[in-house]
Amino acid sequence: MRAIVQREFGGSDVLRVEEVPLPEPGEGLVRVRVAAAGVHAVDTDIRRGDGPPSMPKPQLPMTPGREVAGTVDAVGPGVDGALVGTRVVAHVGFRSGGYAEFTLAPAAALHSVPDRVTFPQAVAAIGTGRTAQLVLESVEIRPDDVVIIPGASGGLGSQLVQLALSVGATVIGLYGGEAKRVVVELLGIGERRAGGRLIALDANDDTWPLRLAGLLEGVQPSILIDGVGGSTGRAAVETLGRGARVVIIGWSSGEVVRLDSADIVERSLTVAVPLGRPITELRVLEARALAAVAEGRVDPPVDEYRLEDAAAAHDAIEQRRQWGKVVLIP
Ligand SMILES: NC(=O)c1ccc[n+]([C@@H]2O[C@H](COP(=O)([O-])OP(=O)(O)OC[C@H]3O[C@@H](n4cnc5c(N)ncnc54)[C@H](OP(=O)(O)O)[C@@H]3O)[C@@H](O)[C@H]2O)c1
Repeated sequence: MRAIVQREFGGSDVLRVEEVPLPEPGEGLVRVRVAAAGVHAVDTDIRRGDGPPSMPKPQLPMTPGREVAGTVDAVGPGVDGALVGTRVVAHVGFRSGGYAEFTLAPAAALHSVPDRVTFPQAVAAIGTGRTAQLVLESVEIRPDDVVIIPGASGGLGSQLVQLALSVGATVIGLYGGEAKRVVVELLGIGERRAGGRLIALDANDDTWPLRLAGLLEGVQPSILIDGVGGSTGRAAVETLGRGARVVIIGWSSGEVVRLDSADIVERSLTVAVPLGRPITELRVLEARALAAVAEGRVDPPVDEYRLEDAAAAHDAIEQRRQWGKVVLIP
């Protein structure tokens, strides 16, 4: 079978296609014929060999890929043979191996993919979608909320925009540069998302807070969900009204959003950082994320690359050309 094999840490050119033996499922494992594999910024950190301390440096050679969807092709000892032929999705964590035609996954990690959900959508739900559900758990979004979301064109931001619109909130989706505008604007289209109002603004244009103030006519955002940080996250904090809720979910810019006690006290902000949940809770969130797609509350935008173009997919993420959930199709 074909797989991406990484034999050294380094630039995207270390991701090469090789012909490798078909993996055999051991105790508790299934073999999945991969139809879609998720690509994440964390994969690029792992590839360079500089992931965060919480991330064990992998043994090389390795095949990257922690999010996989496809059809069960074989089962190992102790696994129900009835799984063969079923459509499944799994987050396989640091076991990795998703960038391949076939991979192994623990039977305990599988979810069945509902009929109305495509394999790339399932991949978008299993990791990024579960994080979006984690955000919803930490901040209840109501129809009268004004929610500001930096990085709205990204994998997580795009799903959060749709979820907030689906409850009828006003959503300000910030994006970086004209090329991403259409990605964000399309998030506001669709029958089930019609209840909310979407305002898409280019965060690269420093006048965006002024334009926002004009559009909101005196109303101020009541929720900030920030995965970008840096100057964009800080400018978003400045727009918040009294009693606003802030959820910090990441720092794609490289710098976590700056907030001091004066910000919190003067504007009665509450701050949540909902990261690092036990795996049992993550499974519940994964199921909710798949249900959100099956029910049409989320229709994740997906940027598809061929398996052999894994290096190009990593380049897009590292050069900030990514949009939606980046997925490899073997
Ligand atoms: N996906 C998950 O499962 C997950 C889980 C936990 C935490 N997070 C965190 O949530 C954040 C978003 O994750 P994601 O999966 O949506 O990532 P993503 O798909 O790579 O999107 C990140 C977005 O951030 C924006 N951005 C702004 N400044 C940037 C910069 N200097 N470099 C790169 N991107 C920049 C980009 O949009 P523009 O170019 O349009 O500004 C980009 O589309 C990240 O901080 C991530 O660590 C994600």
